[in-house]
Amino acid sequence: MTSQSGHRVLSFWNDGASAPKKNEPPLDKGFLPWLGHALEFGKDAAKFLTRMKDKHGDIFTVLVAGHYVTMLLDPNTYDAVLYDTVSFDFSFYRNILMKRVFGCSLAKLSSSMSAHLQTLFLADQKGCSSEWRQEGLFDLCYSLLFRSGYLTVFERSTNAATVYQQFRKFDDLLPGLARSTLNRGQRSAATSYQENLRELLFPAPGGTLVGSSSSSWQQRYQNYLQEEGVNADTQRRALLLQLWVTQGNAGAAAFWLLGFLLTHPEAMEAVEAEIRSLALRHDSLQRLPLDKLETCSTPVFDSVLSETLRLSAAAIITRQVVRDRTLRMASGQEYHLRQGERICLFPFLSPQMDPQVHRDPQNFIYNRFLNDDMTQKKTFYKCGERLKYYNMPWGAGKTSCVGKQFASSTIKMFVLLVLTQLDLELCEPHARLPPANPSRYGLGMMQPQGDLQIRYRPKHKRH
Ligand code: HEM
Repeated sequence: MTSQSGHRVLSFWNDGASAPKKNEPPLDKGFLPWLGHALEFGKDAAKFLTRMKDKHGDIFTVLVAGHYVTMLLDPNTYDAVLYDTVSFDFSFYRNILMKRVFGCSLAKLSSSMSAHLQTLFLADQKGCSSEWRQEGLFDLCYSLLFRSGYLTVFERSTNAATVYQQFRKFDDLLPGLARSTLNRGQRSAATSYQENLRELLFPAPGGTLVGSSSSSWQQRYQNYLQEEGVNADTQRRALLLQLWVTQGNAGAAAFWLLGFLLTHPEAMEAVEAEIRSLALRHDSLQRLPLDKLETCSTPVFDSVLSETLRLSAAAIITRQVVRDRTLRMASGQEYHLRQGERICLFPFLSPQMDPQVHRDPQNFIYNRFLNDDMTQKKTFYKCGERLKYYNMPWGAGKTSCVGKQFASSTIKMFVLLVLTQLDLELCEPHARLPPANPSRYGLGMMQPQGDLQIRYRPKHKRH
């Protein structure tokens, strides 16, 4: 802890919001010593931060479990943080490495992903009669995309189903783990899932790694860590983190996208019409490799994906303030930030759900990102000023998601497979999408609380 933040800790007993010192952002410590706003933050960060934004404006500092966290919620000022690599640390070199390792092999990953997705998809349908099959849409999407993504990125030929089962259990406990709110039983369960996963991904000395290819992305990443002198335990942790980063989001995104289509018939009709027009141009559309699919123009699908992610991608982008710095807001106002504290951007609140940027922001409007001439709509304004950042599901700047292209085309391929190969409908015709689980704000893609029951059968077996 720095002496300055120590000074802030000593002034605990002041109530609620205290006056800013110098020209610091307004400080709100809540009423609980040390914990500050931790409970409210962990329960529903979007609700809590909206309340703080209404109270303090676009920048403020909150106390969360002993940490002073400055939240910046003005998209026109985001660049001041995203591009300042001197004052704000974001593990720059790690990201360069990820870009290097991922970037060059992306084309290869895409065709391999396409093959895995099709094989698993067809295997899952095999033996299905023309009878309807009922399942939760989230389970269906997560399971297929996780397993094919894992086989692709980790290049294993086995154990995808076991890794998936363990990962789902671990993922369910993740919000509590991140916020230290698990009870003792849950904590020990989380530890055992973590250990099982580390063992599956990276067996203990003497253990064998079944079915892994020595040239896989994961193997190269591991080699790099070894060269850097990272010990075996940290390598294990890093691999689990990579599994989460690379496989934790696409399934949820596919769920929301298909869920929105199933509950918005006009959007489904527009996407199906676009697929029909593609099918006229390509004989066997569902066998098209993912990398080829990227080159097909699908403006309606692209707008649907952007709109889905606007409503469901909710990562918090965090930087450590490594030296005292004056932050100049787009409005011209300046704020002093202290070394040792954290600054966070939460693009989900603004621009994504900001009513000053997007009309009717809570609602799914499939053509929100489409111009009348079917080109991508890129002009959005806040208070009369054109925005550079109007939707930020992938983050931005040097740290933005390196898997963006790969994830988009994977989701596109998956949706295309489902819509061209299956008859798919809601079990309950008037069912609505389940709400998002509010404890996951900040962790990436939102996940539903509950599931949406669907039924499906192979199209070609219809009588
Ligand atoms: C819908 C799906 C996805 C979304 C919404 C998403 C979003 C994000 C975001 C917001 C970040 C952090 C950016 C920042 O901190 O500035 C990130 C980082 C990253 N993403 Fe994605 N992502 C998705 C899928 C994927 C996939 C499929 C892969 C790989 C196959 C991937 C690989 C990565 C990697 C390697 C990083 C960097 C992590 C690090 O620096 O350690 N992502 N992603």
